[in-house]
Amino acid sequence: MNISYLNTEPARSLKSIEDIRHDFPILQREVNGRPLVYLDNGASTQKPQVVIDAIAHYYSYYNANVHRGVHALSQEATAAMEASRLTVKHFLNARDEKEIIFTSGTTHGINILSQAWGRKNLKAGDEVLITEMEHHSNIVPWQMACELTGAVLKVALVTEDGEIDMEGLRSMLSERTKMVSVVHVSNTLGTINPVEEIIKAGHEVGALVHLDGAQAIAHMKVDVQALDADFYTFSGHKLFGPTGTGILYGKEKHLEAMPPLFGGGEMIKTVTFEKTTYNDLPFKFEAGTPNIAGNIALGTAIDYLSGLDWKAIRAHEVLLLDRTLDGLNQIEGIRLIGRSEKRSGAISFLVGTIHPFDMGTILDKLGIAVRTGHHCTEPLMDKYGIPGTVRTSFSIYNSEEDVNSLLAGVQKAVQMLS
Ligand code: ALA
Repeated sequence: MNISYLNTEPARSLKSIEDIRHDFPILQREVNGRPLVYLDNGASTQKPQVVIDAIAHYYSYYNANVHRGVHALSQEATAAMEASRLTVKHFLNARDEKEIIFTSGTTHGINILSQAWGRKNLKAGDEVLITEMEHHSNIVPWQMACELTGAVLKVALVTEDGEIDMEGLRSMLSERTKMVSVVHVSNTLGTINPVEEIIKAGHEVGALVHLDGAQAIAHMKVDVQALDADFYTFSGHKLFGPTGTGILYGKEKHLEAMPPLFGGGEMIKTVTFEKTTYNDLPFKFEAGTPNIAGNIALGTAIDYLSGLDWKAIRAHEVLLLDRTLDGLNQIEGIRLIGRSEKRSGAISFLVGTIHPFDMGTILDKLGIAVRTGHHCTEPLMDKYGIPGTVRTSFSIYNSEEDVNSLLAGVQKAVQMLS
């Protein structure tokens, strides 16, 4: 069997949107009798056929546990999963594949980090600094770590336009700050945060810096060494990969110094009733049988994305964002939640007093999928004094026709609901 395709670097290409759309079978379906207009990519992206095939291929031809068997299937499964780890390492420009921990997603990664690192390194009086625009998954795990250790959770404010108040953030940094944990791109506001500046400022006071990359990873080239991030987390399913996959990246020296969080198979070297010695990185953090098919297919998803051109991806996204913002700004009563000029992926809005759920329901009847609600950022909703927003979020396969359908749908909903 030839599984080398899992680790090949495809040539970068300038595929047309039609070609890209053709790669995603779900985009051919209808919803409520209309062609699907999928604009909920911030919640989860669709999957190209190669990713679907990679999962089926694993289960059809070499399904076996990894790192455990001398038999052929186990060796093939192990080789494919480790090839995928290498793909992730190259994709992030990590220094070593030891720094790439497979997780079930961003939430899982932040929980490992906050507990494994936090329990060892935080103590009463220490501080963890986050921001007002964090997703619940970058708030609650740190609250839990602080509750356990007596550390204090500090929150840097966000401006009316939806940007981090950098002066405020800087003023909250001190030698008490042990961890700064910030979202790279806001899932609600679409703001691209000045993460290089934040990492530098965090390091100046001796803090480590973690970036929640869930909404950034499919939209921009992330280079963890150039950023000098200590930790970076993301989810596979927002990157055209399967659900239940994700990555916790950490600099080797930090991961080495962290105790494992979960105990069990795979994460050990030797076990006696008296004492267990732990496995080397990255396996120390990967107790139990991993999501083998998912981890392999995550590599396939990254290969797929790596075959495209980042500049073209960004130019297309900017075009869709600009057209959507122009169109929305012409609607009477529009209120944009998040007005940063440095944005990626998502646009959140409200129209007059129309409830986001009502708008979302009408759009769904038109075959248009958007997300409505608080987007797991309740503190941010409280700040703006709103119950939620309608959020459109774009991906590589969205077209200008999708934007036109959305704008026409919003107009229709406004007529019906005003
Ligand atoms: N965090 C995901 C979103 O923003 C689920 O929709």
